[in-house]
Amino acid sequence: MPEAVDYSALEHLRDGRPVKIRALRPDDRADMLAAIGRTSMQSLQRRFFVPKKGFSERELAFFLDIDFEAHVALVAQIDEDGQPIIAGGGRYIVVRPGHAEIAFVVVDDYQGQGIGTILMRHLAVLARDAGLKELIAEVLPENSAMLKLFKKFGFKTASKGSPQVIHLASALNRVLRFMVHSIGTRYRNPRSERRYPPARASSRHTKLPVKPWPYHRCRFE
Ligand SMILES: CC(C)(COP(=O)(O)OP(=O)(O)OC[C@H]1O[C@@H](n2cnc3c(N)ncnc32)[C@H](O)[C@@H]1OP(=O)(O)O)[C@@H](O)C(=O)NCCC(=O)NCCS
Repeated sequence: MPEAVDYSALEHLRDGRPVKIRALRPDDRADMLAAIGRTSMQSLQRRFFVPKKGFSERELAFFLDIDFEAHVALVAQIDEDGQPIIAGGGRYIVVRPGHAEIAFVVVDDYQGQGIGTILMRHLAVLARDAGLKELIAEVLPENSAMLKLFKKFGFKTASKGSPQVIHLASALNRVLRFMVHSIGTRYRNPRSERRYPPARASSRHTKLPVKPWPYHRCRFE
């Protein structure tokens, strides 16, 4: 069983509120649906590249059935009126050996609070520990928040395909270098830093992708 399945770390939003970053669990279905229900059509469209009013059982199964090797998913859990809610999530999927596609969505009420940045950092650590070499992403050109976030972690435009989509990529080493800079400036939080899993002496090879799956991607193919 991969260690990422039990992943949990404490972080803080920009306004100081605690946020738990943890592995997505199969029993998160109701909370994940509630989070989707609180996410605007625009945000969902930016994540999936098509207007999304709902999700089929097949899609939900895909999002919840995580093996934590070829598919790793984390959620940001926050206490709201004493109840834990999911405020956002990020995941990566190994699309070919050593390379994973990464994507995020944060509930609108919690956007701009640092959750996307925090999730990126934790997923990068897990990707490093899994022995991945590169992260890739697809983003709509108007999605300035996502582009800014990826830029903070060293992503560059990877290829010119369709003008409707920006393809980004960054070597994982580069992401981690930029991450150190990001932590050293704005997001320094010694309490959570101590909880980052230490680097392994030798990285193992990540399980090969079972198959590329369109539902993960920002864009439906
Ligand atoms: C993109 C997204 C994941 C970013 O998450 P987030 O928690 O809001 O991001 P952060 O708070 O960590 O902010 C990241 C950067 O984007 C900036 N940003 C946040 N909202 C912004 C906005 N509306 N416009 C421009 N920049 C914005 C932040 O200022 C921050 O930069 P800074 O650190 O230099 O200040 C989130 O906005 C979201 O879920 N959007 C809808 C779904 C989506 O676009 N998914 C991406 C598909 S690949």
